[in-house]
Order: sequence, then structure tokens, then C-alpha cells
Amino acid sequence: MNSANESAAFWEKHYAGMDAQWGTKPNAVLTTLLADLAPIPRTALDLGCGHGGDALWLAAQGWDVTAVDVSQTALDRVVAGAAASGVTDRVHAQRHDLAETFPDGTYDLVTATYFHTPVSIAREHVLRRAAQAVAPGGLLIVIEHASTAPWSWQAGQDIRHPSPDDVIASLQLDDAWHVTRGDAPQRTATGPEGQTATVTDNVIAVRRTP
Ligand SMILES: C[S@@+](CC[C@H](N)C(=O)[O-])C[C@H]1O[C@@H](n2cnc3c(N)ncnc32)[C@H](O)[C@@H]1O
Repeated sequence: MNSANESAAFWEKHYAGMDAQWGTKPNAVLTTLLADLAPIPRTALDLGCGHGGDALWLAAQGWDVTAVDVSQTALDRVVAGAAASGVTDRVHAQRHDLAETFPDGTYDLVTATYFHTPVSIAREHVLRRAAQAVAPGGLLIVIEHASTAPWSWQAGQDIRHPSPDDVIASLQLDDAWHVTRGDAPQRTATGPEGQTATVTDNVIAVRRTP
């Protein structure tokens, strides 16, 4: 199986067995950040959108959102969620294996929220490609796990999570960028069975100069 088929197979199985309501709420850090950094809705690209918690919230705020995932099941649920919320014309679902193909165009906001996968892909390359998709004046926001939740597929493994500075360095940004946020706050996370744990996230926000 090549990595493209492997990603689709893994994530299709994941979503086929998952409650369609899981992951339909927006990321709280993202919503707070945008209130400060990008209060006027424009165009957004959500990478690895899953069930669309972020994409649907963005569309409800007026953003024109391209929602990308490797799982067609997840995308179908995003499209259904958009219809149920009356934002169909502001949500554009695109299926990509981002290790292979990337949406065309540039966007005022590019987000990657917990874009993690157990499949071996060139994730840093995808995030560098994400930065290239940011329009002048626009933002790239990466929110990712910086610790392992007890219910994660990585639980029990000896994982070294990169620091926010590692992530920013890996983006290989030039002088046309300004780092707005790069820290690792803790939060209480809720797992699929309703269990809770304190976890750490990397929160990265970088802006391309206009
Ligand atoms: C941990 S989930 C996070 C989903 C969502 N962003 C959230 O915060 O709830 C990772 C998402 O990335 C998607 N994904 C993983 N590998 C991918 C790839 N190679 N190309 C596109 N999407 C991928 C998965 O299908 C999944 O929806």
C-alpha cells in the first residue's frame, strides 16, 4: 500500500466508526486567536478538517472556507453540516491527500488544527506548502499536540514532541513573515469516551506581510 492509499484507508476506517457529532465544535484557541488577529472574515483554508468543527464555525462567521481532508466520509459530514447550518455556499469541500496534492490558490487564513496522522508523511513539507498558500497580509495558524493524551494512538510510545520554536523553524519562513504567537499552553482535553486529561498544545500563528 502506498502512503496515499494508507492515509485514505486509515482515516476512512477512523471516521466510519466515529460518532458524526465528534469534532463538530471549533477549536477554542483558534476562535480566540481569530477574534484578535483576523476579526474580518475573508477566505480560509482548513487542512485536515475532519468533521469540520473549525470549517463550519468559520463559515458561520462569514469566512469563505475550503475544507480539505483525505477522508471522503469526513468531508461528506462537513457538507451535511454546512447544509444544516445554512452555509453551503461558503464551505467548499476538497478531498486531497496533502502529502500528494494541495488545493490551488491563496487564502487569507490557512489553519491546520491537530493535523496529525499515524501514517508516515512529510508533514513538515505540508506545513511549508501551507505557508505558501497564505495571501499577503494573511495568517497561518498551526495548533498541534505537544503532549500525548492517554487515549491517543501514540499513548505509551516514547514520542518527542517538537517545541513551538522547532515548528516555526521547520516552516523556513523568510523576512516577509512575522511570528505573532508561538507558545505551548495547557488545556483540559476530553477524549472519545468523555474522559478528561491535562494536555499541552503548540499554538503557532505567523503573518505574511501585506
Ligand atoms: C487528528 S485529526 C484532526 C481533525 C480536525 N482538524 C480537528 O481538529 O478535530 C487529523 C485530520 O487530518 C486528516 N488527514 C490525515 N492525513 C491526511 C493527509 N495525508 N491528507 C489530508 N488529510 C489528512 C485526517 O483525515 C483527520 O481528519
